[in-house]
Amino acid sequence: MNRQAATGVALDDSPNRAVANSGQILRTENLRKIFYSGTLEIAPLDGIDFSVDRGEMIAIVGPSGAGKSTLLHLLAALDTPTNGEVYFGAKLLCSLEEVELAEYRNRAVGFVWQRHHLLPDFTAAENVAMPLLVRGQALSQALRAAGDWLGEVGLADRARQRAGELSGGEQQRVAIARALVNQPVLLLADEPTGDLDERSAEAIFELIERLHRTHHLTSILATHNLSLAQRTDRVLALEHGKLAPSAEVLAGVAGHATRPASAGVRTPGERG
Ligand SMILES: Nc1ncnc2c1ncn2[C@@H]1O[C@H](COP(=O)(O)OP(=O)(O)O)[C@@H](O)[C@H]1O
Ligand SMILES: [Mg+2]
Repeated sequence: MNRQAATGVALDDSPNRAVANSGQILRTENLRKIFYSGTLEIAPLDGIDFSVDRGEMIAIVGPSGAGKSTLLHLLAALDTPTNGEVYFGAKLLCSLEEVELAEYRNRAVGFVWQRHHLLPDFTAAENVAMPLLVRGQALSQALRAAGDWLGEVGLADRARQRAGELSGGEQQRVAIARALVNQPVLLLADEPTGDLDERSAEAIFELIERLHRTHHLTSILATHNLSLAQRTDRVLALEHGKLAPSAEVLAGVAGHATRPASAGVRTPGERG
């Protein structure tokens, strides 16, 4: 459990120090992923070049099967590309040692899945505390931090309730608290509102927007909800293995008149 003891690596030497407070935080270079299924070759990512500035909130839209999850997994170092590179600040992920990669996953990235992946028989607080326990923090301290985070996501009174007893929206709040308890700089959320009804989806999106601002996160959300996506700084569409500014958003298809349809939409790799 205590990686520091096992490896001698100082756990407080956060990988987050590798990135500056502004400027580029993530960049991909000709990122490709090919899956082989029998004789079938599936290439959901076929040359992805894009960069993300610190503090940006980006939506990645695209039909089911387009490769949104695959891309987020590569950015989170949960999977490895077939070709191409992912840079976190100046660090090339594929050049990191396994211990450094584990630190990156645990400390730099907070990941939220569509289906929260909570442990249903553990309490909300125990679920949120899990990443701290993995880091070797004492249980009492971890549970205290988890309680604070449950307060931040509006579930202060649910700390001792089993995760399996919570509603879908509440479970997603717990999952968000768990993703952020290690104070990562990156929040990667894979269709975080995909399993929720419209009202809960709106509430969860608002929560993510608030936490993005108050915790100075850089956030990338995969979603197929264009009206939610439009509220981010930039919408990129993933289709046929490529990432490009979303044509539908550029055309204002979702009909949101609150900001120009092209607001914040930049070409991949363009800096702003
Ligand atoms: N482990 C895997 N093995 C084989 N094919 C996969 C694997 N993971 C994803 N795929 C395929 O890659 C494509 C992209 O999947 P995914 O990234 O899950 O899309 P999305 O998240 O946009 O719905 C799909 O065709 C899917 O079937
Ligand atoms: Mg997916």
